[in-house]
Amino acid sequence: MTYKIVTLAGDGIGPEIMAAGLDVLAAVAEKINFSYELTAQPFGGAGIDAAGHPLPEETLAATKSADAILLAAIGSPQYDTAAVRPEQGLLALRKELGLFANIRPVKIFDALKHLSPLKPERIEGVDFVMVRELTGGIYFGEHTLEETKARDVNDYTAEEIDRIIRKAFELAQGRNKLVTSIDKQNVLATSKLWRQVADRVAADYPDVTLEHQLVDSAAMLMITNPARFDVVVTENLFGDILSDESSVLPGTLGVMPSASHAASGPSLYEPIHGSAPDIAGQGIANPISMILSVAMMLRESFGENSGAEMIESAVDQTLSQGVLTKDLGGTATTAEMTTAIIANLA
Ligand code: IPM
Ligand code: MG
Repeated sequence: MTYKIVTLAGDGIGPEIMAAGLDVLAAVAEKINFSYELTAQPFGGAGIDAAGHPLPEETLAATKSADAILLAAIGSPQYDTAAVRPEQGLLALRKELGLFANIRPVKIFDALKHLSPLKPERIEGVDFVMVRELTGGIYFGEHTLEETKARDVNDYTAEEIDRIIRKAFELAQGRNKLVTSIDKQNVLATSKLWRQVADRVAADYPDVTLEHQLVDSAAMLMITNPARFDVVVTENLFGDILSDESSVLPGTLGVMPSASHAASGPSLYEPIHGSAPDIAGQGIANPISMILSVAMMLRESFGENSGAEMIESAVDQTLSQGVLTKDLGGTATTAEMTTAIIANLA
């Protein structure tokens, strides 16, 4: 079988890190023998330039018939005043493909421990997964802006909550069997429903423990005791905020991949960081988030587990060898780091 991959390089450092990710993909494919075909499509600011819209029709059609989608990064200050911003393309793509489950693993690399803003004893053993609901809630409710008032509607159905909570439980079954569900049920109706559904779903997974946390105290716990978490599941807006909070625990945004899954159809894989327009075009961007997103794709979309593990250990090894890009305190270029990772594939 030939895997059909659509690549959305996007804006800023997007094209540079996409190239790095694809170099690693090519090297792994050769080593473990699978075939794939790539289709590059404009998206984000690049979509606006090419077709007047951040999610051009042709791009959307291509993603719909892909086996998996790799996205690098979108956004650039030049589009801040555009009628439709690059980010709206991303929200539309999530909705169109039904990518309701956003998975962001948080782990600390030994070689990068010193970069964490937390004390070493606080980050010891941190290894959890953020599961964020991605196609519902206030992001997709009605938004109205008038001169003296504004309104954003937060809607959730039991069905939308049920499927994301199940994702969290399924992940926890393969990990440390703890699901932390985060809500604001002391105030919000959507959160009351969230908690009821989570309790109901938990009955189907007796091997997994469910705990509830309110979002404000969860935000504290993520700093005071991040090692206590295993799988964290929450709604769209809380997940946006908490996943950024969790993503700085490793001390850099440059090493964290993510996956977004639908009930059926292609999944999308992307770094959690943005397009870093300030360093675009200089060849110094850290490609690791992109490269680890390729690993996630191999495992979660194609079942190529040995390829995924090969990439993950090569990244570990490269960091331990002290090959570090500027954001990690080193001087390696994007190309040097990518070459070192490829050399460590075994
Ligand atoms: C993210 C981003 C997006 C979001 C933006 C770019 C719309 O912050 O993927 O977390 O808010 O979901
Ligand atoms: Mg965000």
